[in-house]
Amino acid sequence: MIAPSILSADFANLATEMRAVEGSDWLHVDVMDAHFVPNLTLGLPVVESLLAATDIPMDCHLMIDDPGRWAPPYAEAGAYNVTFHAEATDDPRAVARDIRAAGAKAGLAIKPGTPLDPYLEILRDVDTLLVMSVEPGFGGQSFIPEVLGKVRTVRSLVDSGELSILVEIDGGINADTIEQAAEAGVDCFVAGSAVYGAADPGRAVAALREQAAAHWPTATVGAE
Ligand code: DX5
Ligand code: ZN
Repeated sequence: MIAPSILSADFANLATEMRAVEGSDWLHVDVMDAHFVPNLTLGLPVVESLLAATDIPMDCHLMIDDPGRWAPPYAEAGAYNVTFHAEATDDPRAVARDIRAAGAKAGLAIKPGTPLDPYLEILRDVDTLLVMSVEPGFGGQSFIPEVLGKVRTVRSLVDSGELSILVEIDGGINADTIEQAAEAGVDCFVAGSAVYGAADPGRAVAALREQAAAHWPTATVGAE
C-alpha cells in the first residue's frame, strides 16, 4: 500500500492535489500542533473538508500532545485510520479504544529513537503500527535505516500469527529507500516529497507500489 503525504502538496490546491493521487491506497494527512513537534500544519476543520472532497481512505497521523482528547473527533469525522504517538500519552490503550469506538482503525506511531519492546503488548489492541523513519515534523528528510529492525520484529510476529497488525513506515521513503523497507516487511509506505516532488504524482505512486511489491518478502522470486 502507498499513502501519499499531502504535507508535500500545494496547500492552496489540496482538492487538485488529492485528485492527482486518486489511485492511492490511503491518503496520509499530517496533523502537527507546534507542541509535540516543532511545526504546525492543519487540524480537524481542514480534515473535514478534505474528507468531503475525496474517496481515498484517509490516514490521519496526529503529531500532537494529548491525543486522548483530540484524536477521537478525527475518527468521528470519517478518517479511515487515526494514528497517535506513543510518546504523547501515558495510556495508549485507552486512546486506541476511543478511536475504535468512534469508528476508525487505530494506529500507534513511534519515533525513530523509541524502542518497540514497551509497546509490544499494546500492539494487540491497535490496527496499525507507524514506524517513523525520520524525526517527526518535516517532510524531505533522510531515511533512517536503523528503524527497520523494529519493522522486522513486528513482521515476524505478524507472520507467526502472534499479532494482527499493519506495519506502516513514514519518512524518507523514495525510489532509493523503498526496497529495503519492503524487504523488512512494511505493508504501507508513506511518501511525501517522493510523490508530490515528482512531475506526475499519480505515476510516482504507481512506480513506488511496483517497486515495493517486487521486494516484499512474499513476492515471487524472479517474478519479473
Ligand atoms: C513527517 C511526516 C511525514 C512526511 C514525510 O513528520 O510524518 O508524513 O510527510 O515526508 P517525506 O516522504 O518527504 O519524508
Ligand atoms: Zn506522517
